[in-house]
Amino acid sequence: MPFLGGFLSTALDSPLRQGCSCPPPMLELIAETELQALAALQGATNADDLERWRTAWLGMNGRLKDLMQQLKGVPKDVKPEVGKRLNALKSTLESAWETRKQAVPAEEVTGIDLTEPGLPMGEGRRHILSRTIDEILDVFGQMGFAVADGPEIEDEWHNFTALNIPEGHPARDATDNFYMGDQGGVKRLLRTQTSTVQIRAMESTPPPLKVVAVGRVYRPDTHDATHFSMFHQVEGLCVDRDLSMRDLKAAVLHFAHAYFGEDAEVRMRPSFFPFTEPSAEVDMKMRIREQWQWVEIGGCGMVDPNVLSAVDIDPTQWRGFAFGLGVERIAMRRYGISDIRWLFENDARFLRQF
Ligand code: DAH
Repeated sequence: MPFLGGFLSTALDSPLRQGCSCPPPMLELIAETELQALAALQGATNADDLERWRTAWLGMNGRLKDLMQQLKGVPKDVKPEVGKRLNALKSTLESAWETRKQAVPAEEVTGIDLTEPGLPMGEGRRHILSRTIDEILDVFGQMGFAVADGPEIEDEWHNFTALNIPEGHPARDATDNFYMGDQGGVKRLLRTQTSTVQIRAMESTPPPLKVVAVGRVYRPDTHDATHFSMFHQVEGLCVDRDLSMRDLKAAVLHFAHAYFGEDAEVRMRPSFFPFTEPSAEVDMKMRIREQWQWVEIGGCGMVDPNVLSAVDIDPTQWRGFAFGLGVERIAMRRYGISDIRWLFENDARFLRQF
């Protein structure tokens, strides 16, 4: 450290010392302070040490400040020189601190001890709904269904009109839909059912066709244990020359066996949907905590001739069957989840269980 030696010798030999009666002589004190401070700085090997050093020597109540205060008592004739030396000491210490900061390895400045064992990393996993969707698609894939897709923001044609839901039908009520205003004269809304994908699939692919779609649907329901304003449906559609309810039931039963096990059963109850005729509700009998229970999981039916006509498929030549199942219902029943809201809260304590 050449600068230190130079300053020290100057300070000790200075003629200013002679005749300066202040005990202890200020220049000597300044030189000593510099020596001590720089020695202490060499001992600083991490960010904490460096900060402690800065507070002790350069801080508001540090040693340098203390020396500065003593300047008041220095005789007038040596005051300018002592003042100059104090300023020099200040910049020496400041730049030594800066230099030291660079020299201390970065990981030590940030306080990271590389020898410490790491923190445990939480292991991520796929959401239970994503897994359920994949499993369902897998089963239908094995049954020869191709995956189809459609937008979540739909127009009235795909969500209602083509599905045989005419103007003025209560299903179109503003209170039952999330309307999004007009776009180019077309009224848009968040789709309320994945049956929209039936229309899109038939518009883009000539029959025969066999498709399955999974996606989100939206309804302005008040949230409670069994209702949420967004949920998922699986939609299946098959169009061919000679289809009947028997084929529909075979498809749904096959799914039930593959997904819930060979013991699962399927029951169809007569119902009504505008886009199928005849229509039925689908129940599946599944084992829930060692108990067999019938669970309603969706709707199905033979595609209404009006729907086929809407997409220019000749209903005298072609027939279709369709079904729509609730994904949350399936997952909740299968895993014993009693509140749909838990599926969307992203609480790791809940998600970790599956
Ligand atoms: N889209 C109906 C709903 O959201 C469910 C449904 C019923 C879908 C019958 C179908 C079907 O494909 O054939 O309630």
